[in-house]
Amino acid sequence: MPVLTESLPTDPAAVRREASRRRTFAVISHPDAGKSTLTEALALLARAIQDAGVTHGKSSRHATVSDWMGIEQERGISISSAALQLTYRDTILNVVDTPGHADFSEDTYRVLAAVDSAVMLIDAAKGFEPQTVKLLAVCKARNIPIITVINKWDRPGLDALGLIDDIGERTGMTPVPLTWPAGIAGDFHGLLDIPGKRAFRLEAVDGGAQAATETEVRPAELDPIEAARWVEAEEEAGLVESSNGAFDTAEFAAARQTPVLFAAAAKNFGVSQLLDTLVDLGPAPSPRETLTDEPRPLESPFSGFVFKVQAGQDSSHRDHIAYLRICSGSFERGMVITNQRTGKPFATKYAHRVLGRSREVVDTAWPGDVVGLVNATSLRVGDSLFAEEPVRFPDIPRFSPELFAVARAKDPGRYKQFRRGIEQLEHEGVVQVLRSDLRGDQAPVLAAVGALQFEVAAQRLGTEFNAPTSLDHLTYTLAMAVAPGSTGVPETFRGGEILRRADGEVIAVFGDKWKVGHFRKDYPGVVLEPIGAAI
Ligand code: G4P
Repeated sequence: MPVLTESLPTDPAAVRREASRRRTFAVISHPDAGKSTLTEALALLARAIQDAGVTHGKSSRHATVSDWMGIEQERGISISSAALQLTYRDTILNVVDTPGHADFSEDTYRVLAAVDSAVMLIDAAKGFEPQTVKLLAVCKARNIPIITVINKWDRPGLDALGLIDDIGERTGMTPVPLTWPAGIAGDFHGLLDIPGKRAFRLEAVDGGAQAATETEVRPAELDPIEAARWVEAEEEAGLVESSNGAFDTAEFAAARQTPVLFAAAAKNFGVSQLLDTLVDLGPAPSPRETLTDEPRPLESPFSGFVFKVQAGQDSSHRDHIAYLRICSGSFERGMVITNQRTGKPFATKYAHRVLGRSREVVDTAWPGDVVGLVNATSLRVGDSLFAEEPVRFPDIPRFSPELFAVARAKDPGRYKQFRRGIEQLEHEGVVQVLRSDLRGDQAPVLAAVGALQFEVAAQRLGTEFNAPTSLDHLTYTLAMAVAPGSTGVPETFRGGEILRRADGEVIAVFGDKWKVGHFRKDYPGVVLEPIGAAI
């Protein structure tokens, strides 16, 4: 039996102090832009501050990654897709991971509900890429302030002024560079600190295994060739400043301005500037909007919400972890908290966080922190949790699926297990489940934004629910919501069909965007809307 402890009254001054020194953010980027390299570089510099005097060789950088993997294998869960906590200049940085690559799934979008800001990482040679554009749209829909980092400036790439224009056009925000590179892409010599009006020459140490050396220079005192790079940098930065203006905290907070930094994460160039920007300008947790009342003050008793549930990814481990973002008060391990959806209290005996390299038991956590509740099997994505004063936070939006497959129990005798499994996966938000009278309950359509969601669903149906399942992929590529009040809604139509989600949403799925045009002509009484966050 877990030991139940009464939650202790939280000291409001302590909550305010702890919240103000937290920055909870995600790095959004397209695969290969350098997110892992940047995260490691952040960890290297943040740790270098913590363990002053300790040198970190390249081997220890790799150890960081492999240690996580070791824990993942041992525990059968993906720890690196939760959150990493770092300390820099007495500020706690919670880096919430947005799984990409093959792991791309609805979770990738959902974790953005848990952050206060985002770092958008762009490859200097490739500019905006599709996954960045999608993640950016989710951030914009939530008004999340975005810091832009142009990475790989040590490699040949696009022109700096062109990239700045592109950022303005593609994001709808005014880009305001805080640093400007001396040297074109591929010839990265140093950085101008624009607000500080200083110039730093950068040199990689140990091939990027250690923090780069930053030496302040006075361009007027340099030899003409080097001086010319700095003069050009000053001219370009001046051009941008005269057209885009200077950094403005309120504009950044409202996601109308995006500060821009130049970097080469592999060499740790521009990384300390990013850390300083996060600490000095990044938003700290603030009172969270609620559906029940005014925004929840930070000093209120504990509250938070579940933004991700991970379960059964390894058949040998019945691990079920619900990741919680804390919104108010303090979290004490063992405290009794209530799930707003069910009204049921439960004790948080098993709570973990990822701290540096290892998963540690959490004793206390504060607004902005991410905590994993182990074996809290009743929790679902979007659940609001509280102590003492009830609260309901807004639901986490559903996202527009792009992949569709019909699921069927391979053995019709196992239909009961199959149905139970499908319901469970639907509740956990592993996949969206769409149904229609025509297809019947025996063959629901699973819908996802990433193929991994199907793999996880099929594997769990087979191993956890004992209902081996076949998936037949459908050729649909996009979904739209049918607005309430629509008339003459067909069941099927040319190039698509109508399906229903358990939350009552009626969804039309289409082979491609041209079919949407035909549909609108054929069924003028049906109003189509984007699903959830428009992406
Ligand atoms: P991701 O997590 O966004 O997918 O990207 P990741 O960090 O894995 O980086 C993708 C590739 O880009 C890696 O090269 C990495 O070394 C390289 N890279 C990242 N940042 C920089 C940078 O600032 N400058 C340069 N020149 N390269 C960078 P790889 O060849 O795939 O792997 P590796 O052999 O270098 O480890």
